[in-house]
Amino acid sequence: MKILFIGDVVGSPGRNQLEAYLPKLKQKYQPQLTIVNGENAASGKGMTEKIYKQFLSWGAQVITMGNHTWDKREIFEFIDDAKNMIRPANFPEGTPGRGFQIIDCNGVKIAVINLQGRTFLPPIDDPFRKADELVELAKKEASIIFVDFHAEATSEKQALAWYLDGRVSAVVGTHTHVQTADERILDNGTAYITDVGMTGPYDGILGTDREAVIKRFLTNLPVRFEVTKRGKVQLNAVLIDIDDTSGKAKQIKRIMINDDHPFFV
Ligand SMILES: [Fe+2]
Ligand SMILES: [Fe+2]
Repeated sequence: MKILFIGDVVGSPGRNQLEAYLPKLKQKYQPQLTIVNGENAASGKGMTEKIYKQFLSWGAQVITMGNHTWDKREIFEFIDDAKNMIRPANFPEGTPGRGFQIIDCNGVKIAVINLQGRTFLPPIDDPFRKADELVELAKKEASIIFVDFHAEATSEKQALAWYLDGRVSAVVGTHTHVQTADERILDNGTAYITDVGMTGPYDGILGTDREAVIKRFLTNLPVRFEVTKRGKVQLNAVLIDIDDTSGKAKQIKRIMINDDHPFFV
């Protein structure tokens, strides 16, 4: 089972990049499942129904979210009907939407779990204990369990990955928007990367217009953050190959496409 996971898609530059490269990536790597983190898809914050449907039409099968899940108000109108979108599972009880999904890929059942960290992020339920609960539930049905851990602190991401090592097929980090070069298979067969990175403008600061961010650091005054519309654009992803029967990861490959790292078919 090959799973392609695309890091946080940021605004229209990120969406355009996804639309342009997803068919090429699928052609080259032939993944059976494509997962896209969409928490920044709508003008850098949140998701709209139109974009959700676009992502599916471009070939995403599951959309994961993060701390920006609720930033577009219309999310509340469609999240409960969006069968292929999940938000962090450790949001408080009673929150709209769902935190995990089981998808059937040619007879192989894969559970996709979205969790969010608590270090330097709003205090929510414990992602470790929520992971225990969901892994128990998921393994009754699925042979492959994939986790998108949306978190800020590297230590928290490494801790969750080692905590789940051997119990899930992959733990991939999202949220920091910078791809890390630490992809590996842990001792008991869990593929791991601290952060997949971001799909969007990379001449800004984490996808945001850099003048505004610099002004914020210089003055601490409130400034309006907009997605950078000029400059270079990138796509960050990982491709993970997993044994269908054992659920253990065999390989994890980092993918970075930008002006400095062109894509070759
Ligand atoms: Fe993000
Ligand atoms: Fe985030």
